[in-house]
Amino acid sequence: MDLFEYQARDLFEKHGIPVLRGIVATTPAEARAAAEELGGGTVVVKAQVKTGGRGKAGGVKLAHDPAEAEAHAAQILGMDIKGHTVHRVMVAEGAKIAEEYYFSLLLDRSERRYLAMCSVEGGMDIETLAVERPEALARVPVDPRTGIDEAKAAEIVAAAGFAPDVADKVAAVLTQLWTVYRAEDATLVEVNPLVRTEDGTVLALDAKVSLDANADFRHPDHAALEDKSAADPLEAKAKALDLNYVKLDGEVGVIGNGAGLVMSTLDVVAYAGEEHGVRPANFLDIGGGADADIMANGLDVILGDQQVRSVFVNVFGGITACDEVANGIVQALRLLGDAATKPLVVRLDGNNVEEGRKILAAAAHPLVTEVATMDEAAAKAAELAAAK
Ligand SMILES: Nc1ncnc2c1ncn2[C@@H]1O[C@H](COP(=O)(O)OP(=O)(O)OP(=O)(O)O)[C@@H](O)[C@H]1O
Ligand SMILES: [Mg+2]
Repeated sequence: MDLFEYQARDLFEKHGIPVLRGIVATTPAEARAAAEELGGGTVVVKAQVKTGGRGKAGGVKLAHDPAEAEAHAAQILGMDIKGHTVHRVMVAEGAKIAEEYYFSLLLDRSERRYLAMCSVEGGMDIETLAVERPEALARVPVDPRTGIDEAKAAEIVAAAGFAPDVADKVAAVLTQLWTVYRAEDATLVEVNPLVRTEDGTVLALDAKVSLDANADFRHPDHAALEDKSAADPLEAKAKALDLNYVKLDGEVGVIGNGAGLVMSTLDVVAYAGEEHGVRPANFLDIGGGADADIMANGLDVILGDQQVRSVFVNVFGGITACDEVANGIVQALRLLGDAATKPLVVRLDGNNVEEGRKILAAAAHPLVTEVATMDEAAAKAAELAAAK
Protein backbone atom coordinates (compact mmCIF):
# COMPACT_ATOMS: atom_id res chain seq x y z
CA MET A 1 0.00 0.00 0.00
CA ASP A 2 1.32 3.40 -1.01
CA LEU A 3 0.79 6.20 1.47
CA PHE A 4 -0.06 9.82 0.85
CA GLU A 5 2.73 12.25 1.68
CA TYR A 6 0.91 13.51 4.79
CA GLN A 7 0.56 9.96 6.11
CA ALA A 8 4.23 9.26 5.46
CA ARG A 9 5.08 12.56 7.17
CA ASP A 10 3.14 11.42 10.24
CA LEU A 11 5.03 8.09 10.29
CA PHE A 12 8.33 9.95 10.00
CA GLU A 13 7.37 12.17 12.91
CA LYS A 14 6.39 9.17 15.00
CA HIS A 15 9.86 7.73 14.50
CA GLY A 16 11.69 10.95 15.30
CA ILE A 17 12.72 12.01 11.80
CA PRO A 18 12.99 15.78 11.48
CA VAL A 19 9.97 17.01 9.48
CA LEU A 20 8.04 20.25 9.31
CA ARG A 21 4.51 20.64 10.56
CA GLY A 22 1.81 19.93 8.02
CA ILE A 23 -1.98 20.15 8.12
CA VAL A 24 -4.36 18.51 5.66
CA ALA A 25 -7.09 20.62 4.06
CA THR A 26 -9.92 19.67 1.72
CA THR A 27 -11.23 23.17 0.99
CA PRO A 28 -9.52 26.53 0.31
CA ALA A 29 -10.98 27.91 3.57
CA GLU A 30 -9.45 25.03 5.51
CA ALA A 31 -6.12 25.71 3.80
CA ARG A 32 -6.26 29.31 4.94
CA ALA A 33 -7.06 28.25 8.50
CA ALA A 34 -4.19 25.76 8.38
CA ALA A 35 -1.77 28.46 7.23
CA GLU A 36 -2.94 30.66 10.11
CA GLU A 37 -2.48 27.81 12.56
CA LEU A 38 1.07 27.38 11.29
CA GLY A 39 1.85 30.95 12.30
CA GLY A 40 0.61 32.99 9.36
CA GLY A 41 4.00 33.05 7.61
CA THR A 42 5.32 31.27 4.55
CA VAL A 43 3.80 27.88 3.84
CA VAL A 44 3.79 25.40 0.99
CA VAL A 45 0.50 24.08 -0.39
CA LYS A 46 1.02 20.54 -1.65
CA ALA A 47 -1.32 18.33 -3.66
CA GLN A 48 -1.84 14.97 -1.96
CA VAL A 49 -1.93 12.39 -4.73
CA LYS A 50 -0.23 9.03 -4.97
CA THR A 51 1.94 9.87 -7.94
CA GLY A 52 5.26 11.61 -8.55
CA GLY A 53 6.02 14.89 -10.26
CA ARG A 54 3.49 16.94 -8.33
CA GLY A 55 5.73 19.99 -8.27
CA LYS A 56 6.28 20.01 -12.01
CA ALA A 57 2.55 19.64 -12.59
CA GLY A 58 1.89 22.80 -10.55
CA GLY A 59 0.71 20.87 -7.48
CA VAL A 60 3.25 22.33 -5.02
CA LYS A 61 3.10 26.09 -4.43
CA LEU A 62 4.73 28.48 -2.01
CA ALA A 63 2.41 30.93 -0.26
CA HIS A 64 3.60 33.95 1.68
CA ASP A 65 0.48 34.40 3.78
CA PRO A 66 -2.82 32.63 4.57
CA ALA A 67 -4.72 34.47 1.82
CA GLU A 68 -2.26 33.24 -0.79
CA ALA A 69 -2.45 29.71 0.68
CA GLU A 70 -6.21 29.84 0.22
CA ALA A 71 -5.82 30.98 -3.40
CA HIS A 72 -3.28 28.25 -4.17
CA ALA A 73 -5.48 25.61 -2.56
CA ALA A 74 -8.41 26.77 -4.69
CA GLN A 75 -6.25 26.20 -7.74
CA ILE A 76 -4.73 22.87 -6.70
CA LEU A 77 -7.84 21.18 -5.29
CA GLY A 78 -9.64 19.38 -8.11
CA MET A 79 -6.57 19.48 -10.33
CA ASP A 80 -5.76 16.34 -12.30
CA ILE A 81 -2.19 15.11 -11.90
CA LYS A 82 -1.39 12.15 -14.14
CA GLY A 83 -4.93 10.83 -13.84
CA HIS A 84 -5.18 11.44 -10.08
CA THR A 85 -7.71 14.02 -8.92
CA VAL A 86 -6.53 16.15 -6.01
CA HIS A 87 -9.02 15.84 -3.15
CA ARG A 88 -6.74 17.17 -0.40
CA VAL A 89 -3.76 19.39 0.01
CA MET A 90 -1.23 19.50 2.80
CA VAL A 91 -0.33 22.94 4.04
CA ALA A 92 3.23 22.64 5.33
CA GLU A 93 5.56 25.07 7.02
CA GLY A 94 7.93 26.69 4.55
CA ALA A 95 11.60 25.81 4.80
CA LYS A 96 14.51 28.06 3.82
CA ILE A 97 16.31 25.56 1.65
CA ALA A 98 20.08 25.74 1.13
CA GLU A 99 20.55 22.36 -0.57
CA GLU A 100 18.33 19.48 -1.75
CA TYR A 101 19.43 15.85 -1.46
CA TYR A 102 17.88 12.53 -2.44
CA PHE A 103 17.56 9.33 -0.44
CA SER A 104 15.61 6.13 -0.94
CA LEU A 105 15.64 2.65 0.49
CA LEU A 106 13.82 -0.08 -1.34
CA LEU A 107 13.42 -3.82 -1.58
CA ASP A 108 15.77 -5.34 -4.15
CA ARG A 109 13.99 -8.62 -4.80
CA SER A 110 16.42 -10.06 -7.32
CA GLU A 111 19.37 -9.56 -4.95
CA ARG A 112 17.37 -10.59 -1.86
CA ARG A 113 18.35 -7.49 0.04
CA TYR A 114 17.65 -3.77 0.23
CA LEU A 115 19.12 -1.05 -1.90
CA ALA A 116 19.87 2.45 -0.69
CA MET A 117 20.14 5.24 -3.25
CA CYS A 118 21.46 8.62 -2.33
CA SER A 119 22.55 11.82 -4.03
CA VAL A 120 23.68 15.30 -3.04
CA GLU A 121 21.81 16.54 -6.10
CA GLY A 122 18.22 15.78 -5.11
CA GLY A 123 15.02 17.60 -5.99
CA MET A 124 12.56 17.53 -8.81
CA ASP A 125 15.05 16.50 -11.50
CA ILE A 126 16.23 13.29 -9.85
CA GLU A 127 14.78 11.11 -12.63
CA THR A 128 16.81 12.97 -15.27
CA LEU A 129 19.90 12.77 -13.09
CA ALA A 130 19.50 9.01 -12.70
CA VAL A 131 19.42 8.61 -16.48
CA GLU A 132 21.97 11.19 -17.61
CA ARG A 133 24.53 11.03 -14.81
CA PRO A 134 23.98 7.75 -12.97
CA GLU A 135 27.34 8.13 -11.24
CA ALA A 136 25.87 11.05 -9.28
CA LEU A 137 23.38 8.67 -7.65
CA ALA A 138 25.14 6.38 -5.18
CA ARG A 139 23.75 2.86 -4.95
CA VAL A 140 24.65 0.96 -1.81
CA PRO A 141 23.38 -2.56 -1.03
CA VAL A 142 21.93 -2.98 2.45
CA ASP A 143 21.93 -6.32 4.26
CA PRO A 144 18.44 -6.88 5.77
CA ARG A 145 20.00 -8.46 8.85
CA THR A 146 21.95 -5.37 9.84
CA GLY A 147 20.05 -2.65 8.01
CA ILE A 148 21.36 0.90 8.10
CA ASP A 149 23.49 1.01 11.23
CA GLU A 150 26.02 3.77 11.85
CA ALA A 151 28.65 2.10 9.69
CA LYS A 152 26.25 1.61 6.77
CA ALA A 153 24.99 5.19 7.05
CA ALA A 154 28.60 6.42 6.95
CA GLU A 155 29.21 4.29 3.86
CA ILE A 156 26.14 5.74 2.11
CA VAL A 157 26.96 9.39 2.81
CA ALA A 158 30.58 8.80 1.75
CA ALA A 159 29.46 7.16 -1.50
CA ALA A 160 27.12 10.08 -2.22
CA GLY A 161 29.88 12.60 -1.50
CA PHE A 162 28.31 14.76 1.22
CA ALA A 163 30.39 17.68 2.49
CA PRO A 164 31.95 16.98 5.91
CA ASP A 165 29.86 19.63 7.71
CA VAL A 166 26.60 17.92 6.82
CA ALA A 167 27.59 14.25 6.44
CA ASP A 168 27.07 13.29 10.08
CA LYS A 169 23.67 14.96 10.27
CA VAL A 170 22.49 13.17 7.13
CA ALA A 171 23.89 9.86 8.38
CA ALA A 172 21.90 10.23 11.60
CA VAL A 173 18.69 10.77 9.61
CA LEU A 174 19.44 7.71 7.45
CA THR A 175 19.62 5.43 10.51
CA GLN A 176 16.26 6.87 11.64
CA LEU A 177 14.76 6.23 8.21
CA TRP A 178 15.90 2.63 8.55
CA THR A 179 13.92 2.47 11.78
CA VAL A 180 10.79 3.51 9.87
CA TYR A 181 11.49 0.97 7.13
CA ARG A 182 12.02 -1.82 9.62
CA ALA A 183 9.45 -1.01 12.27
CA GLU A 184 6.63 -0.30 9.82
CA ASP A 185 7.45 -3.14 7.41
CA ALA A 186 7.92 -0.82 4.43
CA THR A 187 9.05 -1.84 0.96
CA LEU A 188 9.97 1.73 0.02
CA VAL A 189 10.99 4.81 1.92
CA GLU A 190 11.94 7.73 -0.30
CA VAL A 191 12.80 11.27 0.70
CA ASN A 192 13.09 13.76 -2.13
CA PRO A 193 14.09 16.30 -1.16
CA LEU A 194 15.98 15.74 2.02
CA VAL A 195 17.25 19.26 2.62
CA ARG A 196 19.82 21.29 4.47
CA THR A 197 18.23 24.55 5.54
CA GLU A 198 20.02 27.87 5.73
CA ASP A 199 20.51 27.40 9.46
CA GLY A 200 22.14 23.99 8.93
CA THR A 201 19.28 21.67 9.92
CA VAL A 202 18.65 18.49 7.91
CA LEU A 203 14.94 17.92 7.22
CA ALA A 204 12.73 15.52 5.25
CA LEU A 205 10.57 17.80 3.08
CA ASP A 206 8.81 15.13 1.08
CA ALA A 207 8.09 11.51 1.93
CA LYS A 208 7.04 8.49 -0.07
CA VAL A 209 6.37 5.27 1.80
CA SER A 210 5.00 1.93 0.59
CA LEU A 211 3.97 -0.58 3.21
CA ASP A 212 4.12 -4.33 2.76
CA ALA A 213 0.54 -5.64 2.86
CA ASN A 214 1.85 -9.11 3.73
CA ALA A 215 2.85 -7.69 7.11
CA ASP A 216 -0.54 -6.11 7.82
CA PHE A 217 -1.20 -8.69 10.54
CA ARG A 218 1.61 -7.13 12.54
CA HIS A 219 0.21 -3.63 12.14
CA PRO A 220 -3.44 -3.24 13.07
CA ASP A 221 -2.90 0.54 12.89
CA HIS A 222 -2.09 0.39 9.17
CA ALA A 223 -5.70 -0.43 8.23
CA ALA A 224 -6.62 3.18 9.02
CA LEU A 225 -4.16 4.38 6.36
CA GLU A 226 -6.06 2.74 3.54
CA ASP A 227 -7.70 5.13 1.10
CA LYS A 228 -11.16 3.60 0.98
CA SER A 229 -12.52 6.21 -1.43
CA ALA A 230 -10.02 5.16 -4.09
CA ALA A 231 -10.66 1.42 -3.85
CA ASP A 232 -12.58 -0.21 -6.68
CA PRO A 233 -16.01 -1.25 -5.26
CA LEU A 234 -15.76 -4.74 -6.77
CA GLU A 235 -12.27 -5.19 -5.33
CA ALA A 236 -13.55 -4.04 -1.96
CA LYS A 237 -16.42 -6.54 -2.14
CA ALA A 238 -14.02 -9.34 -3.14
CA LYS A 239 -11.70 -8.44 -0.29
CA ALA A 240 -14.56 -8.64 2.18
CA LEU A 241 -15.33 -12.12 0.80
CA ASP A 242 -11.66 -13.09 1.15
CA LEU A 243 -11.19 -13.57 -2.60
CA ASN A 244 -8.00 -12.86 -4.55
CA TYR A 245 -9.56 -10.56 -7.15
CA VAL A 246 -8.11 -7.83 -9.31
CA LYS A 247 -10.37 -5.82 -11.60
CA LEU A 248 -9.11 -5.40 -15.15
CA ASP A 249 -10.57 -3.51 -18.06
CA GLY A 250 -12.14 -6.19 -20.25
CA GLU A 251 -15.28 -8.19 -21.01
CA VAL A 252 -14.37 -11.83 -20.27
CA GLY A 253 -14.66 -12.70 -16.58
CA VAL A 254 -12.08 -15.23 -15.42
CA ILE A 255 -12.23 -17.67 -12.50
CA GLY A 256 -9.59 -20.30 -11.84
CA ASN A 257 -8.12 -22.28 -9.02
CA GLY A 258 -4.52 -21.39 -8.39
CA ALA A 259 -2.74 -18.11 -9.13
CA GLY A 260 -0.49 -19.61 -11.81
CA LEU A 261 -3.41 -21.12 -13.69
CA VAL A 262 -5.32 -17.85 -13.54
CA MET A 263 -2.32 -15.90 -14.82
CA SER A 264 -1.97 -18.20 -17.82
CA THR A 265 -5.74 -18.07 -18.35
CA LEU A 266 -5.49 -14.29 -18.65
CA ASP A 267 -2.83 -14.73 -21.34
CA VAL A 268 -4.90 -17.24 -23.26
CA VAL A 269 -8.03 -15.10 -23.05
CA ALA A 270 -6.11 -11.99 -24.13
CA TYR A 271 -4.78 -13.91 -27.11
CA ALA A 272 -8.13 -15.45 -28.09
CA GLY A 273 -9.84 -12.11 -27.51
CA GLU A 274 -7.74 -10.23 -30.07
CA GLU A 275 -9.83 -11.61 -32.89
CA HIS A 276 -13.07 -10.54 -31.19
CA GLY A 277 -11.91 -7.25 -29.72
CA VAL A 278 -12.42 -8.39 -26.12
CA ARG A 279 -10.07 -8.74 -23.15
CA PRO A 280 -9.98 -10.37 -19.70
CA ALA A 281 -12.17 -8.53 -17.18
CA ASN A 282 -10.40 -9.62 -14.02
CA PHE A 283 -8.04 -11.88 -12.16
CA LEU A 284 -9.78 -14.20 -9.69
CA ASP A 285 -8.11 -17.11 -7.96
CA ILE A 286 -10.56 -19.11 -5.85
CA GLY A 287 -7.78 -21.30 -4.48
CA GLY A 288 -7.55 -25.03 -4.00
CA GLY A 289 -10.70 -25.75 -1.99
CA ALA A 290 -13.17 -24.27 -4.44
CA ASP A 291 -16.45 -25.32 -2.82
CA ALA A 292 -19.91 -24.06 -3.80
CA ASP A 293 -19.89 -21.04 -1.50
CA ILE A 294 -16.54 -19.81 -2.75
CA MET A 295 -17.57 -20.42 -6.35
CA ALA A 296 -20.85 -18.57 -5.75
CA ASN A 297 -19.02 -15.65 -4.15
CA GLY A 298 -16.57 -15.54 -7.05
CA LEU A 299 -19.31 -15.62 -9.66
CA ASP A 300 -21.29 -13.03 -7.73
CA VAL A 301 -18.36 -10.59 -7.79
CA ILE A 302 -17.65 -11.17 -11.48
CA LEU A 303 -21.29 -10.89 -12.54
CA GLY A 304 -21.45 -7.62 -10.61
CA ASP A 305 -18.99 -6.16 -13.11
CA GLN A 306 -21.13 -4.28 -15.66
CA GLN A 307 -18.46 -4.73 -18.31
CA VAL A 308 -18.46 -8.54 -18.11
CA ARG A 309 -20.26 -10.32 -20.97
CA SER A 310 -19.11 -13.90 -20.51
CA VAL A 311 -17.26 -15.86 -17.84
CA PHE A 312 -14.54 -18.43 -18.29
CA VAL A 313 -14.29 -20.88 -15.39
CA ASN A 314 -10.97 -22.68 -15.75
CA VAL A 315 -10.38 -25.47 -13.25
CA PHE A 316 -7.62 -27.95 -12.81
CA GLY A 317 -8.68 -30.63 -10.37
CA GLY A 318 -5.98 -31.43 -7.84
CA ILE A 319 -6.62 -32.08 -4.17
CA THR A 320 -10.07 -30.65 -4.79
CA ALA A 321 -11.24 -32.95 -7.58
CA CYS A 322 -13.23 -31.88 -10.65
CA ASP A 323 -16.45 -33.50 -9.45
CA GLU A 324 -16.42 -31.36 -6.32
CA VAL A 325 -15.76 -28.26 -8.37
CA ALA A 326 -18.52 -29.20 -10.84
CA ASN A 327 -20.92 -29.63 -7.93
CA GLY A 328 -19.71 -26.27 -6.69
CA ILE A 329 -20.55 -24.63 -10.01
CA VAL A 330 -24.01 -26.22 -10.16
CA GLN A 331 -24.82 -25.23 -6.58
CA ALA A 332 -23.38 -21.77 -7.07
CA LEU A 333 -25.71 -21.20 -10.02
CA ARG A 334 -28.61 -22.42 -7.89
CA LEU A 335 -27.57 -20.06 -5.08
CA LEU A 336 -27.32 -17.14 -7.50
CA GLY A 337 -30.63 -17.96 -9.22
CA ASP A 338 -31.74 -15.06 -11.39
CA ALA A 339 -28.59 -13.12 -10.53
CA ALA A 340 -26.68 -15.41 -12.91
CA THR A 341 -27.32 -13.82 -16.27
CA LYS A 342 -24.20 -14.24 -18.37
CA PRO A 343 -22.92 -17.28 -20.28
CA LEU A 344 -20.36 -19.45 -18.53
CA VAL A 345 -17.71 -21.45 -20.34
CA VAL A 346 -16.31 -24.18 -18.13
CA ARG A 347 -13.15 -26.12 -18.76
CA LEU A 348 -12.35 -28.96 -16.38
CA ASP A 349 -9.24 -31.08 -16.34
CA GLY A 350 -7.24 -33.14 -13.89
CA ASN A 351 -8.38 -35.29 -10.99
CA ASN A 352 -11.82 -36.90 -11.60
CA VAL A 353 -12.44 -34.94 -14.77
CA GLU A 354 -14.92 -37.47 -16.22
CA GLU A 355 -17.16 -37.35 -13.14
CA GLY A 356 -16.99 -33.58 -13.21
CA ARG A 357 -18.11 -33.41 -16.81
CA LYS A 358 -20.98 -35.83 -16.13
CA ILE A 359 -22.22 -33.63 -13.30
CA LEU A 360 -22.24 -30.56 -15.56
CA ALA A 361 -23.91 -32.48 -18.37
CA ALA A 362 -26.60 -33.85 -16.03
CA ALA A 363 -27.34 -30.38 -14.65
CA ALA A 364 -27.64 -29.05 -18.22
CA HIS A 365 -27.76 -25.45 -17.04
CA PRO A 366 -28.74 -23.24 -19.99
CA LEU A 367 -25.96 -20.74 -19.30
CA VAL A 368 -23.15 -23.30 -19.10
CA THR A 369 -21.06 -24.54 -22.01
CA GLU A 370 -18.48 -27.18 -21.23
CA VAL A 371 -15.37 -27.11 -23.41
CA ALA A 372 -12.53 -29.62 -23.19
CA THR A 373 -9.38 -27.58 -23.66
CA MET A 374 -8.16 -24.26 -22.31
CA ASP A 375 -7.53 -22.74 -25.76
CA GLU A 376 -10.94 -23.74 -27.11
CA ALA A 377 -12.66 -22.58 -23.95
CA ALA A 378 -10.92 -19.19 -24.14
CA ALA A 379 -11.95 -18.85 -27.78
CA LYS A 380 -15.56 -19.74 -26.91
CA ALA A 381 -15.68 -17.29 -24.00
CA ALA A 382 -14.23 -14.53 -26.20
CA GLU A 383 -16.75 -15.28 -28.95
CA LEU A 384 -19.67 -15.17 -26.49
CA ALA A 385 -18.42 -11.90 -25.01
CA ALA A 386 -18.23 -10.36 -28.46
CA ALA A 387 -21.63 -11.70 -29.54
CA LYS A 388 -23.69 -10.53 -26.57
N1 LIG B 1 7.94 22.64 3.11
C1 LIG B 1 8.59 23.16 2.06
N2 LIG B 1 9.20 24.35 2.16
C2 LIG B 1 9.86 24.88 1.09
N3 LIG B 1 9.96 24.29 -0.09
C3 LIG B 1 9.38 23.10 -0.24
C4 LIG B 1 8.66 22.46 0.81
N4 LIG B 1 8.18 21.29 0.36
C5 LIG B 1 8.60 21.20 -0.92
N5 LIG B 1 9.31 22.26 -1.30
C6 LIG B 1 9.91 22.49 -2.61
O1 LIG B 1 9.07 21.99 -3.61
C7 LIG B 1 9.73 21.00 -4.37
C8 LIG B 1 8.74 19.91 -4.73
O2 LIG B 1 8.16 19.37 -3.55
P1 LIG B 1 7.99 17.81 -3.35
O3 LIG B 1 9.28 17.11 -3.45
O4 LIG B 1 7.24 17.61 -2.11
O5 LIG B 1 7.06 17.46 -4.55
P2 LIG B 1 7.50 16.66 -5.87
O6 LIG B 1 8.86 16.13 -5.76
O7 LIG B 1 7.23 17.47 -7.04
O8 LIG B 1 6.55 15.58 -5.79
P3 LIG B 1 6.97 14.09 -6.00
O9 LIG B 1 8.05 13.80 -5.00
O10 LIG B 1 5.69 13.44 -5.74
O11 LIG B 1 7.48 14.01 -7.41
C9 LIG B 1 10.86 20.51 -3.50
O12 LIG B 1 11.92 20.02 -4.28
C10 LIG B 1 11.22 21.76 -2.74
O13 LIG B 1 12.12 22.56 -3.50
MG1 LIG C 1 9.50 15.03 -4.06
